[in-house]
Amino acid sequence: MNLLENYSLKKLNTFGIDASAKYFLEVNSVADVQAFLEDKKINTELRLILGGGSNMLFTKNFDGVVVKNCIKGIELLKEDSENYYVKAGAGESWHGFVMNCINNNYAGVENLSLIPGSVGAAPIQNIGAYGVEQKEVFFELEAIDLKEKKSVTINKSDCQFGYRDSIFKREAKGKYIIASVTFKLFKKPKLNTSYGAINQEMEKMGVKEISIATISQAVCNIRKSKLPNPEVLGNAGSFFKNPTISAEQFQAIKKKFPDLVAYPSDVNFKLAAGWLIEQCGWKGKHVGNTGVHKDQALVLVNYGNANGSEVFELSGKIMESVKEKFNVELEREVVVV
Ligand code: EPU
Repeated sequence: MNLLENYSLKKLNTFGIDASAKYFLEVNSVADVQAFLEDKKINTELRLILGGGSNMLFTKNFDGVVVKNCIKGIELLKEDSENYYVKAGAGESWHGFVMNCINNNYAGVENLSLIPGSVGAAPIQNIGAYGVEQKEVFFELEAIDLKEKKSVTINKSDCQFGYRDSIFKREAKGKYIIASVTFKLFKKPKLNTSYGAINQEMEKMGVKEISIATISQAVCNIRKSKLPNPEVLGNAGSFFKNPTISAEQFQAIKKKFPDLVAYPSDVNFKLAAGWLIEQCGWKGKHVGNTGVHKDQALVLVNYGNANGSEVFELSGKIMESVKEKFNVELEREVVVV
């Protein structure tokens, strides 16, 4: 076990925040996780499991052990007349996994192209984009129960997936290290172009026949045009969730602000948080070393040397002004450490 001390996490979080970990460790297998759990020097330390670090804001140094999940491998487990069951190591990059699926003609994840982060993090926050959520292709996952020190299989209903939510963000928070995720992908694609901009983009690309590969390319183009590349400008994608409000509350706000951008969701309405933030005048604003992205107000950015507290403070101010103007509570989507 290669245990490092006082380790900089700057390159391991897409916000590019310069925090450090008291201890740092990479795990490449279930056996590595077992060894870590048996190690007397560190097994009582506070723990943080890190995937791609793309949904995280460090506001201070981490006074414990940061375990980077590097468990790799992509394997076709079985297939039947309709589906492929593909198991991927939690430490695989999500987009790498998506590309592997496109190349093998496994359908279902094309709309989720270019999302930063790892396979193991995908079920934790039930990643979603362009009309599709990870839960639609999730089959089961293997995890190591950190207290019981044994491997368990967790099925879809036990994960309690919701919008950017699962049991791993609530009751099971910190309970497991995810080792691998098995996805149930389709042989016959259900091409989902419900998100308007996908069709527009494919037209621009001159696509004659829609396929999972053309959808993937269109999604990549749209993301690149709207969302900053974390390698160029530190960020963690959407900083807030799109808030869900009652139909009654929606009518009241719509009356005052007829241009309100919202989507029906079950019996409620989901508001475009980016629109709310933009209306409060935040879009493109620089505040010290941090700011609100010029093309997508839902994304907070690090202009170089921001510390996590600065970003956190800015997010608090944005939440206050949205509350004041629209009487809507925004909720942070990123995990604040
Ligand atoms: N809008 C504005 N101003 C802005 C941003 C958005 O007015 O600055 C309005 C526009 O009218 C736009 C609408 O909001 O049509 C929706 O914007 P967009 O299509 O960019 O999507 P979003 O709702 O802001 C969500 C996800 C993204 C995902 C996209 C596409 C959340 C929190 N975010 O953003 O996910 O890529 O939809 O499906 O649900 C992420 O989670 O990190 C992420 C990037």
